[in-house]
Amino acid sequence: MPTTYDSQALAAADRAHLLHPFLPASRQGRTVMVEGRGCRLRDAQGREYLDATAGMWLCQVGHGRPEIADAAAGQMRRLEYSTAFWDFTHDRAITLAQRLVRLSHPDTARVYFTSGGSEGTETALRMARNYHHRRGEPERTWILTRTGAYHGAGYASGEVSDFPLYATGFGPQPGHVHRLTAPYPYAMGLASAPEKATDLLLEEMESAIAMIGAHRIAALIGEPALALGGMVAPPPDYWPRVARLLHRHGILLIMDEVVTAFGRLGHWFAAERMGVRPDLTILSKGLTSGYFPLGAVLLTGRLADVLGADGGFPVGYTYNGHPTGCAVALANLDIIEGEGLLDAADRTGAHLAAGLRSLHDIPMVGETRQYGLMAAVELVADRTTRTPLPEGTYAIADLIRDRTGVLVRGGPRALTLAPPLVMTEGEADEVVSALADVLSSIPAPAAAGRAHRSTTLVPGP
Ligand SMILES: Cc1ncc(COP(=O)(O)O)c(C=O)c1O
Repeated sequence: MPTTYDSQALAAADRAHLLHPFLPASRQGRTVMVEGRGCRLRDAQGREYLDATAGMWLCQVGHGRPEIADAAAGQMRRLEYSTAFWDFTHDRAITLAQRLVRLSHPDTARVYFTSGGSEGTETALRMARNYHHRRGEPERTWILTRTGAYHGAGYASGEVSDFPLYATGFGPQPGHVHRLTAPYPYAMGLASAPEKATDLLLEEMESAIAMIGAHRIAALIGEPALALGGMVAPPPDYWPRVARLLHRHGILLIMDEVVTAFGRLGHWFAAERMGVRPDLTILSKGLTSGYFPLGAVLLTGRLADVLGADGGFPVGYTYNGHPTGCAVALANLDIIEGEGLLDAADRTGAHLAAGLRSLHDIPMVGETRQYGLMAAVELVADRTTRTPLPEGTYAIADLIRDRTGVLVRGGPRALTLAPPLVMTEGEADEVVSALADVLSSIPAPAAAGRAHRSTTLVPGP
């Protein structure tokens, strides 16, 4: 590993040879990351960054953990790869599956491994439809989803996402997807009356079920708390009431815990915090803290019995239950457990939230939110009408990175934060002061979204 890098040459080679997701050709600059430790990253020019995004919201245990590198190397020396198709299996997948089942709610019985979140969503949607099909209800094909959702980049996972870029120029889409309003009290103008928001959302859901016909609906898919949609906590009574309604109609609940599991909301699984027991749970990201691409779908015994019967479940990916990925996940879970990181989310989150409240004096700040170690600063062109900035907050996230070295994510309405669970209170304070410096220096809210427009990145997930 070199300790000095030719940043210019690397950027030029990148421009010549890589096709990046969501990068317009007009953007010449590259941030060439070369090292990470804890919450700090360093680029090829030697510039340091404070990572309030945990990579792509996944690095629970912080960057550069030698325990995980050792686990990967050890596993690769012993058995780097082996399949989990048919009756082939191996000790790492078995141990990890056992551990995940033990950590999940009591109805969880089995685990199906994937390589990431999108593959997990594709698989969970197939499982939901296939479950009904095999039980004699093949007409249950519709999937309910919500605005602000992000569930992946595949055809089906893209369609259940509220992500227009995946729908434009890629048609035709799979179809049979119905979108409901997300529980986003601030956007609904009901931040001070969240239970009223739940009433309205439940009414909408009941009408949609009546319109489509419950006997034609396979499942509802949802993130416990919206991630890409703006790090939004639902009203506390939302999920229990939704789960009861779905159960009454035989509609499965798929919880996409790709972002929220493994301590992000202070529990192994956010469903526990929400007080619900999903039929299917999609996992990835924090499962390995991003040290290896691995995902999983957890199934209840009721589903596993049907999907595993007869010919078994007829969907498989080459990297299903990758031994190195499973060894990495086990080492990652050991760290989360050993260092008490589940408690860190609410503790550090509360500290971060107190700091973020100091931003309320800045006119363009409409609301700040924190839920575990998910947080957001909602930026508005007009506080009274809660009108979002016309171009979103992408350019402002760029500005914060360029001026302060603090990494936060831009979005259509809010700047979002999901730091590693190991972030210290001192580091959280640095994040807040970077936000305060930059946001208070931007003169007119309506103009802020247009800052640097020509070089702004295309908003990726
Ligand atoms: C909630 C959620 N589900 C699914 C995905 C897709 O995961 P992946 O990018 O690993 O395919 C993401 C990615 O950010 C996500 O945030």
